[in-house]
Amino acid sequence: MAGEFGNPEVIQEEVDILLIGGGMACCGAAYEIMPWAKAAEAKLGREFKIKLVDKAAMDRSGAVAQGLSAINTYIGDAQDPADYARMVSNDLMGITRDDLAYDLGRHVDESVHLFEEWGLPIWKTDENGERHDGSKGLPALKDGGKPVRSGKWQIMINGESYKWIVAEAAKKAIGSERIAERVFIVKLVNDKNDKGRVAGAVGFSTRDHKLMVYKAKAILLAAGGCVNIFRPRSVGEGTGRAWYPVWNSGSTYSMAAEAGAELTMMENRFVPARFKDGYGPVGAWFLLFKSQATNATGEVYMVKNKELLNDYPPYGQAAVPASCLRNHLMLKEMKEGRGPIWMDTVTALAKLKETLSPREVKHLEAEAWEDFLDMCVGQCGIWVGENVEPEKKNSELMPTEPYLLGSHSGCCGIWTSGPTDVGAPTDEALPGVPAHLPKGWNWGYRGMTTVKGLFTAGDGVGASGHKFSSGSHAEGRMAAKSMVQYVLDNKDWTPELDTSVDELVEEIYRPVRTFLQFKDYSTAIDVNPNYITPKMLQFRLQKIMDEYVAGVATYYTTNEHMLKVASEKLDMLKEDALKMRAKDLHELLRAWENYHRILTAEAHMKHIQFREESRYPGFYYRMDKNFVDEENWHCFVNSIYDKNTKQWTVFKRAHVDLVDKSKLFKPAAH
Ligand code: FAD
Ligand code: ADX
Repeated sequence: MAGEFGNPEVIQEEVDILLIGGGMACCGAAYEIMPWAKAAEAKLGREFKIKLVDKAAMDRSGAVAQGLSAINTYIGDAQDPADYARMVSNDLMGITRDDLAYDLGRHVDESVHLFEEWGLPIWKTDENGERHDGSKGLPALKDGGKPVRSGKWQIMINGESYKWIVAEAAKKAIGSERIAERVFIVKLVNDKNDKGRVAGAVGFSTRDHKLMVYKAKAILLAAGGCVNIFRPRSVGEGTGRAWYPVWNSGSTYSMAAEAGAELTMMENRFVPARFKDGYGPVGAWFLLFKSQATNATGEVYMVKNKELLNDYPPYGQAAVPASCLRNHLMLKEMKEGRGPIWMDTVTALAKLKETLSPREVKHLEAEAWEDFLDMCVGQCGIWVGENVEPEKKNSELMPTEPYLLGSHSGCCGIWTSGPTDVGAPTDEALPGVPAHLPKGWNWGYRGMTTVKGLFTAGDGVGASGHKFSSGSHAEGRMAAKSMVQYVLDNKDWTPELDTSVDELVEEIYRPVRTFLQFKDYSTAIDVNPNYITPKMLQFRLQKIMDEYVAGVATYYTTNEHMLKVASEKLDMLKEDALKMRAKDLHELLRAWENYHRILTAEAHMKHIQFREESRYPGFYYRMDKNFVDEENWHCFVNSIYDKNTKQWTVFKRAHVDLVDKSKLFKPAAH
């Protein structure tokens, strides 16, 4: 029976593996999975069933939707995976999982080679050292082609169609019959007989009146990070602009938490410094164009304020200060009234002209625009609208509102099982004992969360970071392989949902029922004492987070008292969230996105409350504990949510360095 509004058709499907999300990580998983699944079929003696669901259309979904102009993680031959693990650790203030970073580092380049094979143009340097964009036809990276490095880890691409290319390969690999686009997953369902295991997921179509109930033996939850829990800088006429893609709404963290998975480092956030109002990325400007940022009077704050780095680990020794510390030095200028902050594009382009050939100069001037045209077209709109020619006029920079993510310059996420074959002996290990990971870092399947059968990748994997597009793809591929193994190891187990389908339908359609029940009570559809619109509820969440949990309103500051107020207000918000209305499928989507955002925001707040220090100055400050306390807080902060009692348990987990970090430090000055 075809569904109708308020009375959806219920579609039930049983699969071996469900992939949630169609972003970089799930595209990696989709590409990788078929050969392993085909091999498994022989052992199972039946078809291996796989389904991928994405709330959007894969060609343009997730953080790479608009395209990118650099691949930010490519190891190459001048560095090794241990160097990469060092860089990740340094940028995230010393608390990351070296096993995860190292493992990613040794696999990521293969994903980049595949992208090139599928048609992604990668910039190259020729035998004379001249740079060419991807159209020149120089040898492929895997055949020894030399990429144009913008930075030590980043390579330049012509990447407007990056996501399209990666999605095409994923779709071709698993086949369109195994893909459901425009299906928003609302929640995971645990197993009836084992609460610590996942058994399925439910969602709804954002186009048709259909509700989907999936049973699965293993699930890859890779639905990106979270935006719009903090009031954005762009309000009013600018509403809708954000750096992070607005469609990633914390589904990964909230659904994992509700299923009982242990989260990690949810206090971490990313506050990118960006071109003001258009949110244009800065990486190409700082790294490729060698531009500098200054205060209002032209002083370079990274030089002027460099003593501030001595207050925080590694105490001024890092060759490249962590992203949060770069913000910290910038914020001093802003807070003390020496703003605005400028990206000195004029000097940077003038200097480049002194050393490059005329052809390269022309190319770079074009790239100044193409960098944004490829990945943040709105910034070009601002430049055009404000008569900015970057070679003639500088542009303003601004730290944005906070975002939560685990694959860019942030490390919040889910605690996952690391690789089995990486690690250094721990202190108690005897010499000669095979290398292994610290206790609690591995339980057999790479990428599995602490919930049996639930895997994650990309933004979902916490305590790592700096994977970016290529690393997220690689991590999805690793998860695919271990999920197939997990299914094989559990071949006699059949998932059973712990909640009835009727109850699930009732819960998901509650905002629709609320609307239908009360819509005639008032004459104005948005004004009604019996319900709240998702839009209004989102404003409320953003106001609480902005004003009490260190958003832009307070220059990223909070304290124990403000957090207590936030906690009380979030409790009331959660009560009112049950009264959200949905007047159509679009609002139903918005309602459930909000629900995911609230739980993610709560996790963030609880972790900041628990960590009694300011580990990420420049991203947030607990003004009552405005220091980094290496003695007591050089540890992971993890949490588990109980969906029945609605309580969080937050706790410490020991941090262990597996890679020697001293190589990060500058040589001593003589
Ligand atoms: P995503 O690629 O974001 O995919 C998430 C997927 O989940 C999407 O398909 C989404 O539609 C889907 N989804 C979300 N919620 C649900 C739900 N409830 N149900 C079903 N589906 C859902 N990396 C680089 O290498 N170079 C760069 O220049 C670069 N620039 C970046 C710029 C920005 C603005 C951002 C945010 C990131 C950038 N990155 C860059 C990083 C890179 O984009 C991410 O690391 C990568 O996309 C993360 O992969 P993912 O699969 O975890 O998430
Ligand atoms: S983007 O992903 O949206 O393009 P961004 O422009 O900040 O992000 O960064 C791209 C890459 O450049 C990331 O690897 C980031 O760590 C790096 N990066 C950005 N600014 C700097 C800087 N000032 N110094 C060193 N690395 C930087």
